[in-house]
Amino acid sequence: MDNKKILFVCLGNICRSPAAEGIMKSLVNKNGLNKSITVDSAGTIGYHTGDTPDPRMISHAAKRGYQLNHKARKFDPLKDFDKFDYIITMDDSNFSDINALDKGSKHKQKIYKMVNFAKNYDVDEVPDPYYLGPEGFENVLDVLEDGCNGLLEHVTNGS
Ligand code: 4NP
Repeated sequence: MDNKKILFVCLGNICRSPAAEGIMKSLVNKNGLNKSITVDSAGTIGYHTGDTPDPRMISHAAKRGYQLNHKARKFDPLKDFDKFDYIITMDDSNFSDINALDKGSKHKQKIYKMVNFAKNYDVDEVPDPYYLGPEGFENVLDVLEDGCNGLLEHVTNGS
């Protein structure tokens, strides 16, 4: 398989998308696909640029065995649309914000919603956990694990 590049996108790039990145990297690792799949994340806003993930997300993810090694960055339409094969958004506003940056809709077919890869959770969005309690973070991780499994299948089999 050619190298496939996946970029997860949320709003701040400190909660949902770095968690998705950590989960996906762990799955890629477990499946021996490190040479075939590259994973990164970004936010639609630059407010947290350079920050490590939210400490609440770091600790909930660590309890499931995921290490989140990421520094927040803002999505760069000039580089990221060309560089990545799959741009995976977390909620409807991330999806419309990224589509709005895609002038001329040249990259429309590579912009996805994470929930469309989830098989066990029938939800419309991966909700922003920033103002939620611990159960909000656990719920995000549940949906992200489900979505990452589906996404890996899609990327490896095209299913
Ligand atoms: P994320 O959560 O999009 O999952 O990283 C957020 C983090 C920070 C903010 C919003 C959402 N914020 O506005 O600072």
